Amino acid sequence: MIISLKNVSWQRDTTMILRDINWEVKQGQHWCIVGLNGSGKTTMLNVVNGYIWPTTGQVEVLDHRFGDVDLRELRKRIGWVSTSLQQKLYGHQTALTIVIRNYRFIRQDE
Ligand SMILES: Nc1ncnc2c1ncn2[C@@H]1O[C@H](COP(=O)(O)OP(=O)(O)O)[C@@H](O)[C@H]1O
Ligand SMILES: [Mg+2]
Repeated sequence: MIISLKNVSWQRDTTMILRDINWEVKQGQHWCIVGLNGSGKTTMLNVVNGYIWPTTGQVEVLDHRFGDVDLRELRKRIGWVSTSLQQKLYGHQTALTIVIRNYRFIRQDE
């Protein structure tokens, strides 16, 4: 199993952003997640990457259960290309700087 979300919810204050999500991605599958702006697509991917922790439910990625795995190690095996990553970067940085910075982070983790 590549991704498994079981009964995943994510609540902020009184607002339920993700409600009872059950999703399985098996090896070789390609998924397209379609939804209105603000419907929770990016939030769901943030859960899969361990950037946010679900309020309820269980997450497994590459057969590793969140809570039992070192997410820093697991993230080395997850690729994410998206305009939403822009929020995590400083606007003035060049592509070269971003690559060098992240390369350094990976080396420090090893
Ligand atoms: N950290 C947060 N705190 C509170 N609400 C959030 C947070 N992040 C996202 N949201 C809200 O969650 C909803 C889903 O957002 P998002 O996952 O970005 O949607 P999508 O990617 O489908 O456009 C939106 O209403 C957004 O305002
Ligand atoms: Mg989004």
